[in-house]
Amino acid sequence: MEEKIKFLIDKLNNKHSLEQEEYKYLIESRSEEVADMLRTLAVQARKEIYGNSVYIRGLIEFSNICKNDCYYCGIRRGNKTCDRYRLTKEEIIETADEGYNLGFRTFVLQSGEDSYFTDDILVNIISSIKQNHPDCAITLSIGERDKESYKKLFDAGADRFLLRHETADKKHYEKLHPKEMSFEHRVQNLKDLKEIGYQVGCGFMVGSPYQSPETIAKDLKFIEEFSPKMCGIGPFIPHKATPFKNHTSGTAELTCYLLSIIRLIKPNILLPATTALGTIKEGGREQGILSGANVVMPNLSPVAVRKKYDLYDNKICTGEESAQCRSCLDKRIESIGYKIVIDRGDIKEGKF
Ligand code: 5AD
Ligand code: FES
Repeated sequence: MEEKIKFLIDKLNNKHSLEQEEYKYLIESRSEEVADMLRTLAVQARKEIYGNSVYIRGLIEFSNICKNDCYYCGIRRGNKTCDRYRLTKEEIIETADEGYNLGFRTFVLQSGEDSYFTDDILVNIISSIKQNHPDCAITLSIGERDKESYKKLFDAGADRFLLRHETADKKHYEKLHPKEMSFEHRVQNLKDLKEIGYQVGCGFMVGSPYQSPETIAKDLKFIEEFSPKMCGIGPFIPHKATPFKNHTSGTAELTCYLLSIIRLIKPNILLPATTALGTIKEGGREQGILSGANVVMPNLSPVAVRKKYDLYDNKICTGEESAQCRSCLDKRIESIGYKIVIDRGDIKEGKF
């Protein structure tokens, strides 16, 4: 292996920081050998902090109605073929109750940007779930709102917030989104969330159209500097009814490579092996864990609506078999020597 690469891997492992140009070089010069080395170090770093524990988050996709029109996304408002739904408060609460009985201690409430769900309605749902299950964490993944709204939801009991930054390159951001959306606004939201006290997650798609080693290097630098508690990355997968339908998918290979790098930037970060990774490649989520991820987010949504939360084509865990996700995942995770734990799975803070 080239000396420069060895030096960069060593620097990353010890300093948890590289220059943007160095991240770019690491992405451009990847090989199986380099990937192996990063993976070994990432797994070692993760093991020191989290042992062989994998945390689960029960994903409740409660509405696929969205006012945004992101070019990559299957539930964008411009997709007239999307079969829209909204769960009732009772359905959401019941889904969380079922999840609790299955051993979930974190619920991720995810939706499109659906203005039906006002602050008052969400406050009511969040406080009811918290009242029923005070030992659980609630994560919101509901897109952009104003700071006062984020604050109300936090005060009602929401603990964490996922808002992918999507890309840290402004020009690239503009190629993925219509002009009413802006990178600055997204970053301001992320800062507001952190200031309020949420444990914040950002993230991006791997292999999204117009992405380059340079934009990925910016993503990595952004993650290093913003220092999120969680980071969601998964391959871009085209959806047949979007403007990006003819673009190629991201790969499991690059996704896993980046999971290892992110683990080394933030050894204690909560890093999911995403459903998109399991969709692009059979066994993709397991490969993600073996590259440094430590979270899986199986779907808890009622089976009747799962196919409708259609972000990209061929999404796994949407058929009849998916009611069994919990036990299916248990087996999958155990088969690679890890263990799903019944725990809120908060980030372990400390000096790493
Ligand atoms: N492929 C992969 N991921 C997607 N997302 C949206 N559309 C796609 C797609 N076609 C991701 C976005 C969003 C998250 C909820 O899902 O990054 O933030
Ligand atoms: Fe969903 Fe296996 S994890 S069916």
